[in-house]
Amino acid sequence: MARRRQIYEGKAKVLFEGPEPGTLVQYFKDDATAFNNQKRGVITGKGVLNNRISEYLMTRLAEVGVPTHFVRRLNMREQLVREVEIIPVEVVVRNIAAGSICKRLGIAEATPLPRSIVEYYYKNDELGDPLVAEEHVTAFGWATPQDLDDMMAMALRVNDFLSGLFLGVGIRLVDFKLEFGRLWNDEEMRIVLADEITPDGCRLWDIETNESMDKDRFRRDLGNVVEAYQEVARRLGIMPEAGPRDMKGPVTLQ
Ligand code: TMP
Ligand code: ASP
Repeated sequence: MARRRQIYEGKAKVLFEGPEPGTLVQYFKDDATAFNNQKRGVITGKGVLNNRISEYLMTRLAEVGVPTHFVRRLNMREQLVREVEIIPVEVVVRNIAAGSICKRLGIAEATPLPRSIVEYYYKNDELGDPLVAEEHVTAFGWATPQDLDDMMAMALRVNDFLSGLFLGVGIRLVDFKLEFGRLWNDEEMRIVLADEITPDGCRLWDIETNESMDKDRFRRDLGNVVEAYQEVARRLGIMPEAGPRDMKGPVTLQ
């Protein structure tokens, strides 16, 4: 069968034309980058795990009424999604201080925040995704005030739901990044959750030990990166049946 036309290649995923108009195939690579592409590596098996983890979390979120671009998983590394117009704003929700907020505001890592904090970053690799205010988002027309209200409300719902879900399996949801897209239906537009929700874009700490179970293991050279992602999948009850062997096999695009 002919290879699908590639639409876009990102750092950890590739998007291909989907089987029907308005759909795309999202392919999860094993590539990992950090610090805006300054650090690069390959985490063998990560793509397979992220495909499963994102499928699971997006499906659970859809069940509680959060609209998403996810349609269904196609195979080990690919999922079918609806084509959306990505809003160039990354929405970060933080529950506990870690990463950039510690540096920026001089807060000790692991300090609980007085309440969940929502931040916006302008999605622009050349600029290193700078932190921006709502003012910038609306003044430059990246999103309207109504879009932002919807994104903020959805981000807080996602935070409430996922915090509980992870707590149930002994994991603290420290922070995470979401992306949203505009989904067009005739003349109507609605904002839906897009991209992925995986340990690449979340901080997940073991409740007992505070050990990182996410991409910080790669960023900080802590080792056992894929093992940590596997443990997240195992706790969520979604480890690929054949175990880790399943994750290295040849990948065929249909
Ligand atoms: P930060 O502490 O580096 O600002 O990251 C906050 C959260 O957002 C963390 O879970 C990682 C995630 N994130 C991404 O997924 N992509 C990015 O480009 C950035 C900057 C953060
Ligand atoms: N995802 C970003 C990058 O690839 C930043 C990060 O996750 O550290 O550079």
